[in-house]
Amino acid sequence: MDKMTVSAPGKLLLMGEHSVVYGSPCLVTAINSRLVVTVNMADKDEWPESKFIEKSVHNFRNKFETTDHYGIRVSSELETKYGLGSSSAVTVATIYGLYKLTGKDPDKKELFDLCYQTVLEVQGVSSGFDVAAAIYGGIVYFYTGGKTIEKLEVENIPLIIGYSGVKADTVSIVNSVKEKISTHKDGVEEIFKNISNLVAEAKIALLEKDWVRLGTLMNFNQDYLEDLGVSTEKLDDMIIAARSAGAFGAKLSGAGGGDCMIALVSEEKRKTVSDAITKAGGQVLDVKMEHEGVRIEK
Ligand code: MEV
Repeated sequence: MDKMTVSAPGKLLLMGEHSVVYGSPCLVTAINSRLVVTVNMADKDEWPESKFIEKSVHNFRNKFETTDHYGIRVSSELETKYGLGSSSAVTVATIYGLYKLTGKDPDKKELFDLCYQTVLEVQGVSSGFDVAAAIYGGIVYFYTGGKTIEKLEVENIPLIIGYSGVKADTVSIVNSVKEKISTHKDGVEEIFKNISNLVAEAKIALLEKDWVRLGTLMNFNQDYLEDLGVSTEKLDDMIIAARSAGAFGAKLSGAGGGDCMIALVSEEKRKTVSDAITKAGGQVLDVKMEHEGVRIEK
């Protein structure tokens, strides 16, 4: 094989951000915006500037003790500014592409381990939930480092995604929570424990398609994220607007400090809630849940 094209989906964190870094579970869904990578054998290395691609190739070469050169091209429906998992998707697609290009067939966990190591080395901090979404697709119940990666049988989750217009700096927000732990250890641990319980209950609600219950759990999760100080006025406005317009529930998604919020809605309320988010200054993104994780395109 002298050329291989693969794609990997982006992600949205449904519940459990931040606490997942400290050993609690989270729920994540893959989304139907994908990043496509084409890899080929080459005389010299050539790829777009990206720490994630650089590190992916480095770790792949190390693992398989090869000095081969590669050409890598990327095209993407995933705009980096939205925080929808472009870094994890480019890492997963690059490493999976290299495996397939060289005739290897990793199982999902082996692929996860190499991709997670790569993202961790570039970012310095990561639970790896986004890597799991890019590899497994669908909705995943996840514990940090991939201790548990359980793909849930869920057909669809009726979400609206609103972008706050602000690009979040995940690493500095994760560090702000770390700082809070050093000054308010007991309080933050209590919050994490409560979020952990909400996520466990949300897993059941999701499997039962009990949107009313899931929405309420999302609202509680948002309260705890506000207590951690990671929400913003803009996100709060969009979340309140969505709830007032009839969403089952709404919360920020990801690290906070900007990026996106999500609202869980009935089909009858979809337009009213979308309009309310837009009126609150958000940009509604045309994104849905995706079942398929990383895959070969050609
Ligand atoms: C960021 O998208 C989600 C965090 O939980 C960090 C992580 O899990 O890697 C804040």
